[in-house]
Amino acid sequence: MIAGVMAHDASRGRCRPNPRRLGPYCRSRLESALYCSDDGLSVAPETLIEIKDVNFAYGRRPILSGINMTIPRGKVVALMGISGSGKTTLLRLIGGVMKPTSGEVWVNGQCTSALDQQGIYNMRRRMGMLFQFGALFTDLSVYDNVAFQMREHTGLPESMIRDLVMMKLHAVGLRGAAKLMPAELSGGMARRVALARAIALDPMIMMYDEPFTGLDPISLGVIANLVRELNDTLGTTSLVVTHDVQEALDVVDYVYYLSDGKMKAHGTPEELRANTDPLVHQFVHGEAEGPVAYQYPSGDYAAELRMGGRRAA
Ligand SMILES: Nc1ncnc2c1ncn2[C@@H]1O[C@H](COP(=O)(O)OP(=O)(O)OP(=O)(O)O)[C@@H](O)[C@H]1O
Ligand SMILES: [Mg+2]
Repeated sequence: MIAGVMAHDASRGRCRPNPRRLGPYCRSRLESALYCSDDGLSVAPETLIEIKDVNFAYGRRPILSGINMTIPRGKVVALMGISGSGKTTLLRLIGGVMKPTSGEVWVNGQCTSALDQQGIYNMRRRMGMLFQFGALFTDLSVYDNVAFQMREHTGLPESMIRDLVMMKLHAVGLRGAAKLMPAELSGGMARRVALARAIALDPMIMMYDEPFTGLDPISLGVIANLVRELNDTLGTTSLVVTHDVQEALDVVDYVYYLSDGKMKAHGTPEELRANTDPLVHQFVHGEAEGPVAYQYPSGDYAAELRMGGRRAA
Protein backbone atom coordinates (compact mmCIF):
# COMPACT_ATOMS: atom_id res chain seq x y z
CA MET A 1 0.00 0.00 0.00
CA ILE A 2 1.53 3.30 -1.07
CA ALA A 3 0.21 5.19 1.90
CA GLY A 4 1.81 2.64 4.23
CA VAL A 5 5.24 3.00 2.68
CA MET A 6 5.07 6.73 2.68
CA ALA A 7 3.84 6.89 6.27
CA HIS A 8 6.74 4.70 7.31
CA ASP A 9 9.24 6.97 5.62
CA ALA A 10 7.54 10.11 6.78
CA SER A 11 7.85 8.88 10.36
CA ARG A 12 11.61 8.95 9.86
CA GLY A 13 11.38 12.40 8.36
CA ARG A 14 12.86 11.25 5.07
CA CYS A 15 10.01 11.52 2.52
CA ARG A 16 7.15 13.92 2.25
CA PRO A 17 4.00 12.61 0.59
CA ASN A 18 3.93 15.31 -2.12
CA PRO A 19 5.80 13.78 -5.12
CA ARG A 20 6.62 17.21 -6.60
CA ARG A 21 8.62 18.05 -3.49
CA LEU A 22 10.49 14.75 -3.25
CA GLY A 23 14.22 14.35 -3.79
CA PRO A 24 15.46 11.61 -6.19
CA TYR A 25 15.75 9.02 -3.37
CA CYS A 26 12.21 9.56 -2.16
CA ARG A 27 10.82 9.76 -5.70
CA SER A 28 12.34 6.40 -6.56
CA ARG A 29 10.86 5.00 -3.33
CA LEU A 30 7.46 6.33 -4.32
CA GLU A 31 7.76 4.99 -7.88
CA SER A 32 8.86 1.56 -6.71
CA ALA A 33 6.18 1.51 -4.03
CA LEU A 34 3.64 1.86 -6.84
CA TYR A 35 4.45 -1.71 -7.85
CA CYS A 36 3.49 -3.14 -4.44
CA SER A 37 -0.24 -3.35 -4.29
CA ASP A 38 -0.77 -4.38 -0.69
CA ASP A 39 0.98 -5.19 2.56
CA GLY A 40 1.54 -8.80 1.60
CA LEU A 41 -1.60 -9.91 3.38
CA SER A 42 -2.61 -11.74 0.21
CA VAL A 43 0.60 -13.81 0.43
CA ALA A 44 -0.13 -16.93 2.47
CA PRO A 45 2.20 -17.44 5.48
CA GLU A 46 3.28 -20.83 4.10
CA THR A 47 4.47 -19.13 0.89
CA LEU A 48 8.12 -18.05 0.82
CA ILE A 49 8.16 -16.55 -2.68
CA GLU A 50 5.21 -15.18 -4.59
CA ILE A 51 5.53 -13.71 -8.06
CA LYS A 52 2.47 -11.76 -9.17
CA ASP A 53 1.81 -10.75 -12.78
CA VAL A 54 5.45 -9.92 -13.40
CA ASN A 55 6.57 -8.35 -16.65
CA PHE A 56 10.20 -7.57 -17.33
CA ALA A 57 12.06 -6.03 -20.26
CA TYR A 58 15.74 -5.38 -20.89
CA GLY A 59 15.40 -1.87 -22.29
CA ARG A 60 12.59 -2.11 -24.84
CA ARG A 61 12.97 -5.86 -25.35
CA PRO A 62 10.31 -7.81 -23.43
CA ILE A 63 11.72 -10.90 -21.71
CA LEU A 64 9.08 -12.02 -19.18
CA SER A 65 5.36 -11.48 -19.46
CA GLY A 66 2.51 -12.15 -17.03
CA ILE A 67 4.52 -14.45 -14.77
CA ASN A 68 2.80 -15.90 -11.70
CA MET A 69 4.58 -18.34 -9.45
CA THR A 70 4.30 -19.57 -5.86
CA ILE A 71 7.10 -21.27 -3.94
CA PRO A 72 5.90 -22.75 -0.64
CA ARG A 73 8.26 -22.94 2.34
CA GLY A 74 10.16 -26.19 2.66
CA LYS A 75 9.59 -27.35 -0.92
CA VAL A 76 11.96 -27.98 -3.83
CA VAL A 77 10.65 -26.29 -6.96
CA ALA A 78 12.14 -26.57 -10.45
CA LEU A 79 12.10 -23.85 -13.07
CA MET A 80 12.59 -25.33 -16.52
CA GLY A 81 12.58 -24.08 -20.07
CA ILE A 82 14.76 -23.97 -23.13
CA SER A 83 17.77 -21.70 -23.36
CA GLY A 84 16.88 -18.00 -23.49
CA SER A 85 13.37 -18.46 -22.07
CA GLY A 86 14.13 -16.14 -19.14
CA LYS A 87 14.97 -18.48 -16.23
CA THR A 88 18.09 -16.69 -14.99
CA THR A 89 16.31 -13.36 -15.43
CA LEU A 90 13.57 -14.61 -13.08
CA LEU A 91 16.21 -15.66 -10.51
CA ARG A 92 17.70 -12.15 -10.72
CA LEU A 93 14.28 -10.64 -10.03
CA ILE A 94 13.83 -12.89 -6.98
CA GLY A 95 17.32 -11.96 -5.76
CA GLY A 96 16.45 -8.27 -6.11
CA VAL A 97 19.32 -7.74 -8.58
CA MET A 98 16.74 -6.16 -10.88
CA LYS A 99 13.18 -4.98 -10.39
CA PRO A 100 10.20 -6.03 -12.50
CA THR A 101 8.91 -3.56 -15.09
CA SER A 102 5.49 -4.23 -13.58
CA GLY A 103 4.06 -6.74 -11.13
CA GLU A 104 5.39 -7.79 -7.76
CA VAL A 105 7.98 -10.14 -6.32
CA TRP A 106 7.36 -11.05 -2.68
CA VAL A 107 10.07 -12.79 -0.68
CA ASN A 108 9.42 -13.82 2.90
CA GLY A 109 6.61 -11.29 3.27
CA GLN A 110 8.52 -8.39 1.69
CA CYS A 111 7.86 -6.83 -1.70
CA THR A 112 11.31 -6.43 -3.29
CA SER A 113 10.32 -3.29 -5.22
CA ALA A 114 9.67 -1.48 -1.95
CA LEU A 115 13.05 -2.38 -0.44
CA ASP A 116 15.94 0.05 -0.45
CA GLN A 117 19.55 -1.04 -1.03
CA GLN A 118 20.05 -2.09 2.58
CA GLY A 119 16.77 -4.04 2.57
CA ILE A 120 17.81 -5.91 -0.59
CA TYR A 121 21.21 -6.60 0.95
CA ASN A 122 19.64 -7.98 4.14
CA MET A 123 17.28 -10.16 2.10
CA ARG A 124 20.10 -11.45 -0.10
CA ARG A 125 22.17 -12.44 2.92
CA ARG A 126 19.48 -15.01 3.63
CA MET A 127 19.72 -16.49 0.14
CA GLY A 128 22.21 -19.11 -0.99
CA MET A 129 23.08 -19.18 -4.66
CA LEU A 130 24.81 -21.90 -6.65
CA PHE A 131 25.71 -20.76 -10.14
CA GLN A 132 26.42 -22.83 -13.22
CA PHE A 133 29.94 -24.31 -12.75
CA GLY A 134 29.83 -23.03 -9.11
CA ALA A 135 33.10 -21.10 -9.40
CA LEU A 136 35.35 -21.47 -6.35
CA PHE A 137 38.10 -19.08 -5.27
CA THR A 138 41.01 -20.87 -6.92
CA ASP A 139 43.68 -19.58 -4.53
CA LEU A 140 41.78 -20.69 -1.40
CA SER A 141 41.59 -24.24 -0.05
CA VAL A 142 38.29 -26.12 0.12
CA TYR A 143 38.12 -25.27 3.84
CA ASP A 144 38.73 -21.55 3.26
CA ASN A 145 36.20 -21.44 0.42
CA VAL A 146 33.48 -22.68 2.74
CA ALA A 147 34.67 -20.50 5.65
CA PHE A 148 34.82 -17.37 3.49
CA GLN A 149 31.26 -16.07 4.02
CA MET A 150 31.24 -17.03 7.69
CA ARG A 151 34.36 -14.93 8.23
CA GLU A 152 32.95 -12.05 6.15
CA HIS A 153 29.47 -11.92 7.62
CA THR A 154 29.60 -13.27 11.17
CA GLY A 155 31.71 -12.39 14.14
CA LEU A 156 32.09 -16.04 15.07
CA PRO A 157 35.38 -17.22 16.62
CA GLU A 158 37.60 -19.34 14.39
CA SER A 159 37.02 -22.46 16.53
CA MET A 160 33.27 -22.26 15.89
CA ILE A 161 33.78 -21.53 12.19
CA ARG A 162 35.95 -24.66 12.03
CA ASP A 163 33.12 -26.83 13.39
CA LEU A 164 30.59 -25.26 11.04
CA VAL A 165 32.84 -25.69 7.98
CA MET A 166 33.39 -29.34 8.87
CA MET A 167 29.63 -29.86 9.31
CA LYS A 168 28.91 -28.35 5.89
CA LEU A 169 31.67 -30.38 4.22
CA HIS A 170 30.41 -33.51 5.98
CA ALA A 171 26.90 -32.79 4.63
CA VAL A 172 28.24 -32.94 1.05
CA GLY A 173 30.52 -35.92 1.78
CA LEU A 174 33.80 -34.01 1.50
CA ARG A 175 35.05 -33.57 5.06
CA GLY A 176 38.21 -35.44 4.05
CA ALA A 177 38.92 -32.97 1.24
CA ALA A 178 39.12 -29.85 3.44
CA LYS A 179 42.81 -29.24 2.78
CA LEU A 180 42.69 -29.72 -1.00
CA MET A 181 42.92 -26.82 -3.42
CA PRO A 182 40.18 -26.38 -6.11
CA ALA A 183 42.62 -27.47 -8.86
CA GLU A 184 42.88 -30.88 -7.14
CA LEU A 185 39.11 -31.54 -7.30
CA SER A 186 37.06 -33.30 -9.97
CA GLY A 187 34.16 -31.33 -11.48
CA GLY A 188 31.62 -33.16 -9.33
CA MET A 189 33.64 -32.55 -6.15
CA ALA A 190 34.04 -28.85 -7.00
CA ARG A 191 30.28 -28.56 -7.42
CA ARG A 192 29.76 -30.15 -3.99
CA VAL A 193 32.23 -27.72 -2.38
CA ALA A 194 30.34 -24.86 -4.04
CA LEU A 195 27.18 -26.33 -2.55
CA ALA A 196 28.75 -26.47 0.93
CA ARG A 197 29.80 -22.84 0.50
CA ALA A 198 26.31 -21.81 -0.63
CA ILE A 199 24.70 -23.33 2.49
CA ALA A 200 27.38 -21.91 4.81
CA LEU A 201 25.06 -19.36 6.40
CA ASP A 202 21.97 -21.61 6.55
CA PRO A 203 20.01 -19.70 3.89
CA MET A 204 16.23 -19.49 4.04
CA ILE A 205 16.19 -20.15 0.28
CA MET A 206 18.69 -21.89 -1.97
CA MET A 207 18.65 -20.91 -5.63
CA TYR A 208 20.47 -23.13 -8.10
CA ASP A 209 21.18 -22.00 -11.66
CA GLU A 210 21.98 -25.07 -13.77
CA PRO A 211 23.66 -27.01 -10.93
CA PHE A 212 24.06 -30.18 -13.01
CA THR A 213 25.74 -28.78 -16.13
CA GLY A 214 28.85 -30.64 -17.27
CA LEU A 215 28.59 -33.48 -14.74
CA ASP A 216 28.77 -37.20 -15.52
CA PRO A 217 25.52 -39.11 -14.81
CA ILE A 218 26.71 -40.41 -11.42
CA SER A 219 27.90 -37.02 -10.12
CA LEU A 220 24.71 -35.51 -11.49
CA GLY A 221 22.60 -37.99 -9.52
CA VAL A 222 24.69 -37.28 -6.39
CA ILE A 223 24.17 -33.52 -6.69
CA ALA A 224 20.45 -33.92 -7.45
CA ASN A 225 19.97 -36.05 -4.32
CA LEU A 226 22.05 -33.61 -2.27
CA VAL A 227 19.80 -30.74 -3.33
CA ARG A 228 16.83 -32.67 -1.97
CA GLU A 229 18.57 -33.93 1.18
CA LEU A 230 20.04 -30.57 2.13
CA ASN A 231 16.68 -28.90 1.59
CA ASP A 232 14.98 -31.32 3.95
CA THR A 233 17.67 -31.57 6.62
CA LEU A 234 18.40 -27.82 6.75
CA GLY A 235 14.70 -26.96 6.57
CA THR A 236 15.27 -24.55 3.71
CA THR A 237 13.37 -23.94 0.45
CA SER A 238 14.94 -24.54 -2.95
CA LEU A 239 14.46 -23.23 -6.46
CA VAL A 240 16.35 -25.19 -9.10
CA VAL A 241 16.79 -23.87 -12.63
CA THR A 242 17.71 -26.76 -14.88
CA HIS A 243 17.58 -28.37 -18.31
CA ASP A 244 18.17 -31.81 -16.82
CA VAL A 245 14.57 -32.81 -16.85
CA GLN A 246 14.60 -36.45 -15.74
CA GLU A 247 16.95 -35.90 -12.77
CA ALA A 248 15.00 -32.87 -11.66
CA LEU A 249 11.62 -34.55 -11.99
CA ASP A 250 12.89 -37.31 -9.67
CA VAL A 251 13.72 -34.97 -6.77
CA VAL A 252 11.48 -31.90 -6.92
CA ASP A 253 7.98 -31.30 -5.54
CA TYR A 254 6.70 -28.97 -8.23
CA VAL A 255 7.73 -27.72 -11.66
CA TYR A 256 7.23 -24.47 -13.57
CA TYR A 257 7.88 -24.55 -17.30
CA LEU A 258 8.83 -21.26 -18.92
CA SER A 259 8.65 -20.81 -22.67
CA ASP A 260 9.49 -17.62 -24.50
CA GLY A 261 9.07 -15.52 -21.35
CA LYS A 262 5.66 -16.95 -20.45
CA MET A 263 4.70 -19.58 -17.88
CA LYS A 264 3.53 -22.29 -20.23
CA ALA A 265 2.80 -25.04 -17.71
CA HIS A 266 3.17 -25.96 -14.06
CA GLY A 267 2.37 -28.92 -11.90
CA THR A 268 3.79 -31.87 -10.02
CA PRO A 269 6.41 -33.99 -11.82
CA GLU A 270 3.68 -36.54 -12.62
CA GLU A 271 1.47 -33.83 -14.10
CA LEU A 272 4.35 -32.51 -16.23
CA ARG A 273 5.19 -36.00 -17.49
CA ALA A 274 1.56 -36.49 -18.49
CA ASN A 275 1.21 -33.04 -20.08
CA THR A 276 0.10 -33.36 -23.71
CA ASP A 277 0.92 -29.81 -24.84
CA PRO A 278 3.34 -30.42 -27.77
CA LEU A 279 5.88 -27.88 -26.47
CA VAL A 280 5.93 -29.27 -22.92
CA HIS A 281 5.89 -32.86 -24.19
CA GLN A 282 8.88 -32.25 -26.49
CA PHE A 283 10.89 -30.66 -23.66
CA VAL A 284 10.04 -33.20 -20.95
CA HIS A 285 10.72 -36.17 -23.22
CA GLY A 286 13.76 -34.64 -24.94
CA GLU A 287 12.46 -35.18 -28.47
CA ALA A 288 14.29 -33.74 -31.48
CA GLU A 289 11.07 -33.33 -33.47
CA GLY A 290 8.47 -30.88 -32.23
CA PRO A 291 7.46 -27.24 -32.09
CA VAL A 292 10.84 -26.10 -30.71
CA ALA A 293 13.01 -25.35 -33.73
CA TYR A 294 16.78 -25.54 -33.45
CA GLN A 295 17.31 -22.89 -36.16
CA TYR A 296 17.83 -19.34 -34.89
CA PRO A 297 15.22 -17.15 -36.66
CA SER A 298 16.64 -16.14 -40.04
CA GLY A 299 15.61 -14.94 -43.49
CA ASP A 300 14.72 -17.04 -46.51
CA TYR A 301 17.51 -19.61 -47.04
CA ALA A 302 17.22 -19.87 -50.86
CA ALA A 303 17.14 -16.09 -51.26
CA GLU A 304 20.21 -15.80 -49.06
CA LEU A 305 22.18 -18.37 -51.09
CA ARG A 306 21.23 -16.65 -54.39
CA MET A 307 22.38 -13.36 -52.88
CA GLY A 308 25.71 -15.03 -52.01
CA GLY A 309 25.97 -16.25 -55.62
CA ARG A 310 25.34 -12.78 -57.05
CA ARG A 311 27.90 -11.27 -54.70
CA ALA A 312 30.49 -13.86 -55.68
CA ALA A 313 29.82 -13.26 -59.39
N1 LIG B 1 21.93 -8.19 -19.34
C1 LIG B 1 21.15 -8.44 -20.40
N2 LIG B 1 20.86 -7.45 -21.28
C2 LIG B 1 20.04 -7.67 -22.34
N3 LIG B 1 19.47 -8.86 -22.63
C3 LIG B 1 19.73 -9.88 -21.79
C4 LIG B 1 20.58 -9.73 -20.64
N4 LIG B 1 20.66 -10.92 -20.00
C5 LIG B 1 19.88 -11.77 -20.69
N5 LIG B 1 19.33 -11.15 -21.77
C6 LIG B 1 18.40 -11.75 -22.74
O1 LIG B 1 17.26 -12.17 -22.03
C7 LIG B 1 16.77 -13.41 -22.54
C8 LIG B 1 16.61 -14.39 -21.39
O2 LIG B 1 17.88 -14.63 -20.84
P1 LIG B 1 18.10 -15.62 -19.61
O3 LIG B 1 19.55 -15.59 -19.28
O4 LIG B 1 17.15 -15.24 -18.52
O5 LIG B 1 17.67 -17.00 -20.25
P2 LIG B 1 17.80 -18.48 -19.63
O6 LIG B 1 16.45 -19.09 -19.73
O7 LIG B 1 18.46 -18.42 -18.30
O8 LIG B 1 18.77 -19.17 -20.71
P3 LIG B 1 19.87 -20.33 -20.46
O9 LIG B 1 19.12 -21.60 -20.27
O10 LIG B 1 20.64 -20.33 -21.75
O11 LIG B 1 20.71 -19.94 -19.29
C9 LIG B 1 17.77 -13.87 -23.60
O12 LIG B 1 17.22 -13.63 -24.86
C10 LIG B 1 18.99 -13.01 -23.38
O13 LIG B 1 19.59 -12.69 -24.62
MG1 LIG C 1 20.27 -19.09 -17.54
